[in-house]
Amino acid sequence: MSVTEAGREFVATGSREALLARFRRVRQASITMCRPLRAEDFRLQPIEEVSPPWWNLGHTSWFFVRNVLEPFGGRLVREDAQYDFLLNSYYASLGSRLPRSRRGSITRPTTEEIYRYRASVDQRVEDLLETVDPGHLDALSSVLAIGLEHEQQHQELFYTEIKVILAQNLRELRQPYRAVPEEERPVDAVDPLRFVDFAGGLLEFGHRGQGWCWDNELPVHKFYLAPFALANRLVTNAEYQEFLDDHGYDQQLLWLDNGWARLQGEGWHAPLYWERVDGCWWLWTLDGMRPLPPEEPVCHVSFYEADAFARWKSQTAACHRGVRLPTEREWEQAARSTLCEPQEDAFLESDRLHPACAKGGRSLAQMAGCLWQWTSSYYEPYPGYRPFLGVLAEYNGKFMDNQRVLRGGSCVTPREHFRVSYRNFWSAPTRFQFTGIRLVRSEE
Ligand SMILES: [Fe+2]
Repeated sequence: MSVTEAGREFVATGSREALLARFRRVRQASITMCRPLRAEDFRLQPIEEVSPPWWNLGHTSWFFVRNVLEPFGGRLVREDAQYDFLLNSYYASLGSRLPRSRRGSITRPTTEEIYRYRASVDQRVEDLLETVDPGHLDALSSVLAIGLEHEQQHQELFYTEIKVILAQNLRELRQPYRAVPEEERPVDAVDPLRFVDFAGGLLEFGHRGQGWCWDNELPVHKFYLAPFALANRLVTNAEYQEFLDDHGYDQQLLWLDNGWARLQGEGWHAPLYWERVDGCWWLWTLDGMRPLPPEEPVCHVSFYEADAFARWKSQTAACHRGVRLPTEREWEQAARSTLCEPQEDAFLESDRLHPACAKGGRSLAQMAGCLWQWTSSYYEPYPGYRPFLGVLAEYNGKFMDNQRVLRGGSCVTPREHFRVSYRNFWSAPTRFQFTGIRLVRSEE
């Protein structure tokens, strides 16, 4: 069995022992990140897009049941059938499922039962890995790799979701995901904003080489780009506050019509998690409330806010005339042609859980990790796109509709997920992800 097209095998090479070690490491990380939670935190779904942690723990296990244990003859148990309806996310080809909006309204299975279910799935996958016929090992490894990539995507989601969940509590009763003592917070300085020139031309895009990638990063294809100049770093809180101070949220002409409707409907007046207390801006973080750090990149903005900010910025000075959000291919070309080495505090492994400042005088800072960067590109298939085969055809392709592409990874993205060709996607109003703004300028 293969989930990929012929000639494009995503085989997770390595011994059974190496696969087993990776499986255990990734699965354990999901358990570890839930340790700071209290029982009540596991069940809340404050908005439809935010799944409660119990569901994430169960759903990532379900993924291995339906895509690994079942197709490869692994041992099945009664709970596999009992929980199937609850834990299927969006796979229509795998049957009916609980509406997403109801994940926070049920209390059975209990969180404890979900933990037991995880342990059972882990044991059965390990048994399968140890006993599978050598002739099927490569195929099993391919699907197992997708299951682990999927689990890591949910680990990133977990941090964004628990941030929303904990923010629901009254400010005076709120508790952070974890508390970092004041003296341990790194003190940051920021590079001045400038624009870095890139030549255009007929260029290649998409994932190159033999390493693993999602189906949406392929095929490699050519596309013509005009010359452009990309900002050396992300927009900071201080720069975004100038937009607020200039009444950016009151100037309808700066906004796309759908964005303006959303602003009015939901009462947007600042990025998500900015709170005005006694005349000063504060920021809700996974470490608790902090005075808004002016030098840090602005975070938790929707595509609409990023787009309106760029339009405002383009009107503020002659040197900024024409600034806008980059296309995904401009971003990729810039990342490819510069040394895109991440800062050491850019990804999840740094345990920072918060975007770091641009520093170190790099040609382009904050390209790898830090914050996902909105692009102006719609999430569309590359020319000649072919989805994974079978059930996993539903993983990416069917969402190529009315969403925008984000590039770069974030401070809660696992380091091994970063690729210059990686395409994240969210709908334009989304604010609860770690999203930021990088500007670009067309060159004459
Ligand atoms: Fe999922």
